[in-house]
Amino acid sequence: MEEDKLVKIQDVNQALEGIGEWEGNKYSFRYANVGDEITFFTIGKRKRKKIIVKEHKVLSKIEIPICQYYYKCGGCSAQHLPYASQFIYKTDPLVKFYFENHKLESNLAPAQNIVCYRNRMDFAVFPEAIGLRKFGDFRTIVDIERCEIQSDWANEELRVCRELVKDYEGLPYHRKLETGYLKYITLRYGFTTHDSLTIFTFCEEFKDTEWETRFITDVCQKSKANNIVFCYNNKKSEVSASGNYKVIRGNHFYMENVMEQRFSVPFDSFFQPNPKGFFPILDTVEKFIADLEVDTLLDLFCGNGFFSLLFGRYFKEIYGFENVESSILQAEQNVKAKYASKKVLFKRFDLFQNKLDLNFLTNPVKTVAILDPPRSGAGKNLISVLNISSIPYILYVSCNPNLQKEEIEKMSNYRLKSILFADPFPHTPHFESIAVLEQIK
Ligand SMILES: C[S@@+](CC[C@H](N)C(=O)[O-])C[C@H]1O[C@@H](n2cnc3c(N)ncnc32)[C@H](O)[C@@H]1O
Repeated sequence: MEEDKLVKIQDVNQALEGIGEWEGNKYSFRYANVGDEITFFTIGKRKRKKIIVKEHKVLSKIEIPICQYYYKCGGCSAQHLPYASQFIYKTDPLVKFYFENHKLESNLAPAQNIVCYRNRMDFAVFPEAIGLRKFGDFRTIVDIERCEIQSDWANEELRVCRELVKDYEGLPYHRKLETGYLKYITLRYGFTTHDSLTIFTFCEEFKDTEWETRFITDVCQKSKANNIVFCYNNKKSEVSASGNYKVIRGNHFYMENVMEQRFSVPFDSFFQPNPKGFFPILDTVEKFIADLEVDTLLDLFCGNGFFSLLFGRYFKEIYGFENVESSILQAEQNVKAKYASKKVLFKRFDLFQNKLDLNFLTNPVKTVAILDPPRSGAGKNLISVLNISSIPYILYVSCNPNLQKEEIEKMSNYRLKSILFADPFPHTPHFESIAVLEQIK
């Protein structure tokens, strides 16, 4: 343990933490704003070094958090900052980078709606609590009765599910003792359709037990969800809404509309968590491709075929790749149904493990690739394939704009034409971006 240190917060970083300096070293603090004073000490060494805050003197003007759990829950981390500042702190380093290195003015689309925006929340079920993880502590759950960034429907359904589980002593899974079965409750809601899906994730051992039969009867009586799914996976797995499943009510998916397109979203598949906050990205895609002379869409990390369905009308051939089976099936079915006269091919493919062979493209020089990878980025295999391709345009959509920046720098055959930052995730450090890239001739 080291001596106490006192720092004054001088800046806020992209993770929305206050930054203070002590003897030339920078330290970051959650919930701290410029002007605050923090007394702290550290324990452990190098990578295991942990900062322990002894006193946080709030000397700045802060916002009153919208949520009662804000200072405990690991979900949001910036409710103490005015929204306009949150957006600037998140995007500013990248705005400066693109201006200095690419002579580009970034396009900025801050959020229009900063509460009640998420269409999906995953609540962990522990014997002592149902809620979200405490910041920095995977094993501790903050008991949550309502969450301000999810819909009113989801808050009511959360209340119902919490009451329900209370009546089943021993049902929540105990991670240490390995007793009980229920690990997660996932609530998914279509803001435009009001369709809803509640997913209970259990340990495999729960399937077809007498307990399950009793629980099903109760769930069906009390839950207000249009669709209810039970899914089962390995005890040790901490992945919610995945594995074998049983439909308890309705379907294994729910419906959502985006830009007048109807989507069915399977229980285990990705869907934009805040479609409305994502509109500026969609608008950029549409404006760009509407003016191009291209005939082929290559939808990489296509999920349920979100981009293909929305923009397929601009193309003659549509190809999509993705590694979740249910998503690819859904994508193929929906895109083929909507664009019956076009050549459509969707394939399950691990874009990280394997190099995609682009020889199937009849007309690579008339192709647009939309690249929408998970947080871990597009990966070196795909970047190298694209770099040597003849594809003239790439629209790289990212939920990790800092990593996107590094990957763009590696795409040496492409020039960055424009970049836009949008914010579907207020109060969190997350945001989205779209980079328009054009091949250097
Ligand atoms: C950010 S989501 C985008 C999905 C889709 N474009 C959309 O907007 O709904 C990233 C997608 O990448 C898929 N994915 C993750 N790892 C992958 C991999 N190794 N190979 C292919 N797809 C992967 C995920 O299943 C997810 O559907």
